Amino acid sequence: MKLACFVEAYNFKDKSERKALSKFKSTAESMGHTFDFIFKEDISRVAEYNALFIRATTDPSNSAYVASRLAEQSGLKVIDDPHSIRTCSNKAILHDLFLKNNIPSPKSLLFTGDFSSVSLDNIFETLGTPVVIKTPYTRFSSHVEKADGIQEFISISKKLLRKSKVLVVQEYVMSDFDWRVGILRNEIIYLCKYCIPDGGWKVKSKINGKNVWGDTIAVPRESISPELKEICINLSKCVGDGLYGLDVKETSGGYRVIEINDNPSIYEGYEDAIDRDIYEKIINALVS
Ligand SMILES: Nc1ncnc2c1ncn2[C@@H]1O[C@H](COP(=O)(O)OP(=O)(O)O)[C@@H](O)[C@H]1O
Ligand SMILES: [Mg+2]
Repeated sequence: MKLACFVEAYNFKDKSERKALSKFKSTAESMGHTFDFIFKEDISRVAEYNALFIRATTDPSNSAYVASRLAEQSGLKVIDDPHSIRTCSNKAILHDLFLKNNIPSPKSLLFTGDFSSVSLDNIFETLGTPVVIKTPYTRFSSHVEKADGIQEFISISKKLLRKSKVLVVQEYVMSDFDWRVGILRNEIIYLCKYCIPDGGWKVKSKINGKNVWGDTIAVPRESISPELKEICINLSKCVGDGLYGLDVKETSGGYRVIEINDNPSIYEGYEDAIDRDIYEKIINALVS
């Protein structure tokens, strides 16, 4: 089969992402397929392929989303499919999905800019202190902030409301790491711990003015706890049958799902460090 992989120049900047991309290509070729990297300039050629695998950032404002829709419209198998992109890219939509499907997650509410004291008191009474504030379309922790009280909440949310008319506000769930659960076709394909760097509270934190990523520790997928597995598969089924990366906190009171991502990071030596067959599994899903 003819496979296309939609990428942008930045996908080749980091050595381990570059290596992962070439692993996808060599795996596909060893399985008897062709595998071409295509860029936004080639977007009108998507229909020439049998399947499309997207590695460039997928938010609906990006060319990768257009590529995904073009592929679907032409009957190609596509990862990430447009429905998965639309659902996963919006944290306000996820908030509602979690509620409707009883997915254990931090207490959350939507905030649209009611700064009356009744509204502000209600937020802190419902969610406790501190609270986490996010724009629906954030990625790589860029618009995810923590407020320790009403004054800080007002200044952060005023700033974030300039990016988005609706914000998600959540109870703060403390942990040393996020579980990252990789799922394909509603099965677990890899498991990692994304650690929170010392002095930070997010996997990518600003510490002394510098952006710092925590370590990634791969864990054998078979070792996942039955409870975590069930939560993650239930959630992935609510979205579709594509490739997803779930962020989950483990607390003394149980698991709390932070989000489900389409287009999860796959870097050589990180997510693939233990379960090495993820390339083959993804190529198989594209050609099936
Ligand atoms: N409610 C929360 N409590 C504690 N940490 C959180 C909460 N929400 C997000 N985080 C942390 O912030 C980081 C980014 O949040 P996330 O919602 O995953 O957004 P992004 O799409 O930017 O990755 C992650 O490390 C996550 O664990
Ligand atoms: Mg995340």
